Amino acid sequence: MQAENSRPGPSGLMTRPRTYFVKTFGCQMNVYDSQRMSDALGSMGYVEAQGPDDADLVLLNTCHIREKAAEKVYSEVGRLKKARDQRRAEGGDMLIGVAGCVAQAEGQEIVARAPAVDLVFGPQNYHRLPDFVARAASGETVVETEFPVEDKFAALPRAKPEQVRSRGVTAFLTIQEGCDKFCTFCVVPYTRGAEFSRPAERILAEARELADAGVRELTLLGQNVNAYHGEGTDGAEWNLARLLHALAEIDGIERLRYTTSHPRDMDDELIAAHRDLAELMPYLHLPVQSGSDRMLALMNRKHDRVLYFDIVNRLRDACPDIALSSDFIVGFPGESDADFADTMDLVRQVGFVQAFSFKYSARPGTPAANMDEQVPDDVSSARLAELQALLREQQAGFAASRVGRTMHVLLERDGRKPGQLVGRSPWLQPVVVEAPQSLTGEMVTVTVKSAGSNSLFADLVDSTIYRERPPAAAAAF
Ligand code: SAH
Ligand code: SF4
Ligand code: F3S
Repeated sequence: MQAENSRPGPSGLMTRPRTYFVKTFGCQMNVYDSQRMSDALGSMGYVEAQGPDDADLVLLNTCHIREKAAEKVYSEVGRLKKARDQRRAEGGDMLIGVAGCVAQAEGQEIVARAPAVDLVFGPQNYHRLPDFVARAASGETVVETEFPVEDKFAALPRAKPEQVRSRGVTAFLTIQEGCDKFCTFCVVPYTRGAEFSRPAERILAEARELADAGVRELTLLGQNVNAYHGEGTDGAEWNLARLLHALAEIDGIERLRYTTSHPRDMDDELIAAHRDLAELMPYLHLPVQSGSDRMLALMNRKHDRVLYFDIVNRLRDACPDIALSSDFIVGFPGESDADFADTMDLVRQVGFVQAFSFKYSARPGTPAANMDEQVPDDVSSARLAELQALLREQQAGFAASRVGRTMHVLLERDGRKPGQLVGRSPWLQPVVVEAPQSLTGEMVTVTVKSAGSNSLFADLVDSTIYRERPPAAAAAF
């Protein structure tokens, strides 16, 4: 059988289909976007290559959040150029594209600095990919970083059931994009634009398709996912709590998660959803960045530490088992030893099961980049090490507290050793279970027997397969 998009070989016979490879950097929203771009390329007849060097088209989906992340693009393009030279020597070729947040932030500068790049396009333009690729293939250097008015999500093709199945039983679903908060350190409002919520009807339709193709756990994504305020199916505006309730009704969807949340948008209804919805996992990523009120004000986070403590207390009242994770920045301009001590104190008081912590990175065009009193690198490094030691201790303590507990695990994939499967606990920890491969994709009940540095190890106690939702009592493990 001939592929739709095959090319004529030297003898006029059709040869292999065109191939693509998308390499993803940055956050989960980029992972979702890369999947949508793959789906679009799939519907253009492209097939996925084994790796970037084997592909006719390579797209780098990039991240601009910190300097190190952004600089990766250039080393990657340098490497790809070598692979392309090799392909050209063998009579082939390769198109190199830069998508994502670096593309949006740097645009034309990318082709000036890395002329090997054939196409540059920002996150709001992905639905125009077929046009961009055609133009680049005919020799044009394409640079597209507009914020068009049309809804790219509506225009992007959705994954075919077999594509969904190949990605497993968990899926990301972007429901909100962009940010209007303008924290003084952050590029996201500039790279992703203004806050936009997708209409509930479209989200529900996509979730139903995913569930029909076997997805059991959905993670709703947005840079400010809990600021969601989309048009509901009843014409009214829905918040995230309302949307979660509707998603929980979908047959096959057994677990719901959402990320990333902003403390200012943790409203009462969302907190109540953590009490009322068995499908909503007892885990929340709630970035705080700093425990110092002075820093929080300079960062323009729009809340203080008391508000953060208050939210945590209300969440724990609603869902006593809830586990919290967070993001931290150390070495923000002007951060003193006392400010940093406030961060350590907040961490001790709250207790986090997971966290991402970073040294402040000055980003061009953001207000904090021009602030006085940038903190010396060795001071930031020392603070980061101290903070990470405490966070690691808390993570290990939480893992140890799961030993002996019985819980549901959604088995996702093969483990490292034969006979092992790996899934996630309700608290997002990887759990390694000795189980037959036939249980891949199923929700099982396990008892945790030990905790390693990154994973829990558990025994299967009940391989009852919950085709529908697990019984409410069991879901409360
Ligand atoms: N919308 C999310 C954050 C998205 S960016 C929120 O409001 O929490 C992910 C994380 O990257 C941030 O939480 C922050 O900890 C980190 N980050 C963002 N800009 C940064 C910078 N300039 N330097 C260091 N870390 C940064
Ligand atoms: Fe960036 Fe702040 Fe918006 Fe989060 S809330 S994306 S940190 S500006
Ligand atoms: Fe990076 Fe853009 Fe995500 S800057 S963190 S890829 S929104």
